[in-house]
Amino acid sequence: MRMSKMRVFLVFLCLWAVVAEAEILKYKDPKQPLNARIKDLMRRMTLEEKIGQMTQIESKVASPDVMKNYFIGSVLSGPGSVPVAKASASDWVNMVNGFQKGAVSTRLGIPMIHGIDAVHGHSNVYKATIFPHNVGLGVTRDPQLIKRIGAATALEVRATGIRYTFAPCIAVCRDPRWGRCFESYSEDHKIVQSMTEIIPGLQGDLPANSRKGIPFVAGKTKIAACAKHFVGDGGTTRGIDENNTVIDSKGLFGIHMPAYYDSIRRGVATVMISYSSWNGIKMHTNKFLITGFLKNRLKFRGFVISDWEGIDRITSPPHANYTYSVQAGVLAGIDMVMVPKNYTEFINTLTLLVKSNVIPMSRIDDAVRRILRVKFVMGLFEDPLADLSLAKHLGSQEHRELAREAVRKSLVLLKNGKDPKKPFLPLLKKSRKILVAGTHADNLGFQCGGWTIEWQGFRGNNITAGTTILAAIKKAVDPSTQVVFSENPGSSFVKGEEFSHAIVVVGELPYADKAGDSTNLTIAEPGPSTIRSVCGSTKCVVVVVSGRPVVMEPYVRRIDALVAAWLPGTEGEGVADVLFGDYGFSGKLARSWFKSVDQLPMNVGDEHYDPLFAFGFGLTTQSRHV
Ligand code: BGC
Repeated sequence: MRMSKMRVFLVFLCLWAVVAEAEILKYKDPKQPLNARIKDLMRRMTLEEKIGQMTQIESKVASPDVMKNYFIGSVLSGPGSVPVAKASASDWVNMVNGFQKGAVSTRLGIPMIHGIDAVHGHSNVYKATIFPHNVGLGVTRDPQLIKRIGAATALEVRATGIRYTFAPCIAVCRDPRWGRCFESYSEDHKIVQSMTEIIPGLQGDLPANSRKGIPFVAGKTKIAACAKHFVGDGGTTRGIDENNTVIDSKGLFGIHMPAYYDSIRRGVATVMISYSSWNGIKMHTNKFLITGFLKNRLKFRGFVISDWEGIDRITSPPHANYTYSVQAGVLAGIDMVMVPKNYTEFINTLTLLVKSNVIPMSRIDDAVRRILRVKFVMGLFEDPLADLSLAKHLGSQEHRELAREAVRKSLVLLKNGKDPKKPFLPLLKKSRKILVAGTHADNLGFQCGGWTIEWQGFRGNNITAGTTILAAIKKAVDPSTQVVFSENPGSSFVKGEEFSHAIVVVGELPYADKAGDSTNLTIAEPGPSTIRSVCGSTKCVVVVVSGRPVVMEPYVRRIDALVAAWLPGTEGEGVADVLFGDYGFSGKLARSWFKSVDQLPMNVGDEHYDPLFAFGFGLTTQSRHV
C-alpha cells in the first residue's frame, strides 16, 4: 500500500516536471501566440545571445562552431560566394544545414536565417533560372507576372535550403548614369509601387485579417523578402552610387517613399538601409526615418538590416571610427548588421556600448524582438533544416518558360521600318540567308548582366545554363534558313554575302554597383561600328542589351528596326519569339530614353522634357497566330 502511494507520487512528480518543462519552453510551442513566444524566449536570453542575433556574417567566415560559439543570428552568401564552384542544390543545402545545426545546438536552439541576393531569379546559383532584371520587368506593367516570378524565385531559393532574399530593390532610379539603374523597375514611383506585387510572390499571400506592418512568410515554399535600399538610393546626385540624394521632403516622400508603403502593406519581412545620404545625412544614421518614420509611423514590425559594411561606411574613409559607426547605426534603429566579416569586432564593440549604457537595453530588445518575430512567423523554429525535396525546381523547365514569357513582355519596340507604313518586324522565319552580328548575340553572360553568378556578372556561355539570343534565333527560323554569325563583320563582307537581312545585338558589358556608374552611357565597342558596317550594307534590326537607355544617336535613322531588350537573363528564346512574330511586341518604356547625356537627369513630368523616346512609348506588332 505504502509502495503504491509512493509510485503515484513519483508519477505525479514526473508529470508535473513534463508540464513544467512544456510551460518553461513556451517559445518552442507553435500553438502559443506569436507575442507570447517572443516574450518567453527574450526573457531567457543573455546579452551575448541577443547581440549574436543582431549579427549577420558572410558564409566564408561562418562555420558550425562560429554559429554556436557566437550565437550568430544570420548568415549571408554574398555575390559570387558559393559552397563550391558550380554548386548543386545539395551542395547548398549541406552548407546551409551545417550552419543551422551549429545555430540550433546552442542552449536556446535559436535557428539562424540564411540570406542571399536572389535579385533576378536565384541569380548567384549555377543553373538557376535567370529572369530579366527589374529594368525590363517594369516595362511589362504586369504585376501578376512579377508575382509569379517571385513565387518561382522563392521555390528555387528554397531548393538550395535558403530562406531569405535581399529583394526586391524598390529604388526609383531618376538618373540612368547610376550603376544600379537596372535594379530599378522604373523612374516612375507608381510602376515601382505596382511591382511590389513580387513580395506576396516571394513570401505568400497575406491573410485577410493580418495587421498592417506584421511580417508574413507562408510555409515551406516561401522565403522572407527585403525591400531595399531605404530610402532615396535612386535619387543620388548625378546618379553616383552611394552618393547624396538632395531633395526636399515632398520629393522624398512623394517619389522614393511610396513603394515602402506598398511593401509594408504586403507584409514585407525586412527592409535594408541604403548606403546613400539624404541631404547630407547618411541613411544608416537616420533615426528620424528609420525609427521615427518606418517603425513608428508606418508600423513596420519586421527587422531593419544594414547594407554590407553599411555601418562602416557611415564615416569616410569607411571604418575610420567603428565604435561611432555601431553606435550611430544601432541607435538609428538598425536591428541586424550585415557585418559581414569581422564579427568579433562588431560583437565586442556593441557589447561594450551596451555595458557602458551608450546603447540602452531597450534598443537591443527592440532589435531582437523583430528578428525573432520574423523567424517565428517563418516557421524556422519548427522546421530549421532543409532537405532536397524542392531541388527539382532549380532551373526547372516551367520556370524557364516563365522567364521566356517575361522576356517577351519586357522588350520595347522603338522603331519599326524606315517608313512606318512598311513595318520591318516581325521577321520571316523563312529567308534565304540572314546575318546575326554583334558582341551580345552569343554571350549568355552579357545578356544576364551584373549580379549573375558573380557580383559583376560574367562573360561567355560556359558559366551557367541558358539560351543565347543567337541560339534562340537558330532554333526559331525555318530549317531552310541559313544563319551566319559574325561578331563584327566589315561592310564589304556584309555586302558580298547578299543577306536577306541582319540582326545586330549590341549593348553594355556587365557591371554592378559603383562599377556601373557611367557619365557617357555608350554602347560597348565595337558595337557602334558593327551597327555602322552592318546597317549601312543591308537591312537590319538592332537589339540593344543594356541596363538602361544608352546613346542611340546618330544611329537610329540608319537602322530599320530598334528593340530595347534590357538585360533579359538566361532565356534568349523570348527575344526570338517576338522578333519572328510568334508573339507581338507589347512593352512600354518605364524609363525616358534621352537624346544626349547632357539632358540628364530627365524624367517624365519634368518641365524641359525632350526625350528621344518618351516614357510610356512602345510600338506594337501582332502575333502571327492571331
Ligand atoms: C548591396 C546590397 C546587397 C548586399 C548583400 C551590397 O553591396 O548594396 O544590395 O543586398 O551587398 O550582398
